[in-house]
Amino acid sequence: MTSIEPEIIDRLVATAREIRAKAYAPYSGFHVGAALLGGDGRVFAAVNVENASYPVSVCAERNAVAMAVAAGVRDLRAVAVVTDAETPTPPCGGCRQVLNEFGEGMAVIAESADGSSRKHWALGELLPDAFGPRDLAEA
Ligand code: THU
Repeated sequence: MTSIEPEIIDRLVATAREIRAKAYAPYSGFHVGAALLGGDGRVFAAVNVENASYPVSVCAERNAVAMAVAAGVRDLRAVAVVTDAETPTPPCGGCRQVLNEFGEGMAVIAESADGSSRKHWALGELLPDAFGPRDLAEA
């Protein structure tokens, strides 16, 4: 995986932070902003969108993936996540799986609500031995 310039990571985190204000989270009160970096340099940002039927709520990361794919981008290099939590929070398990589909080696960056702490992972650290498209191809 080629490393991503720090300025681009900063921009991604800033984008996730900015869009978080648009989260629709009246049930959990937990606002999440996510910004994805495509292989062509484009950025796709989204928020969590909850629903009165709680289980159909959709995470910010998954909404961002849908935006990228709808724009024709399937090569995802990084995702930044900013939530209301005091500590940086990684994507949930379901989102890790969805991110893996389009960016096995992607960088994952999370920043705390107040911006004082940041964490970096490779997606493979968060989802080791992932089940992915290649596994189906081998069936
Ligand atoms: N949420 C996300 O948007 N991304 C995650 O990775 C973790 C959880 C949302 C789902 C729900 O709307 C709220 O945060 C509380 O779980």
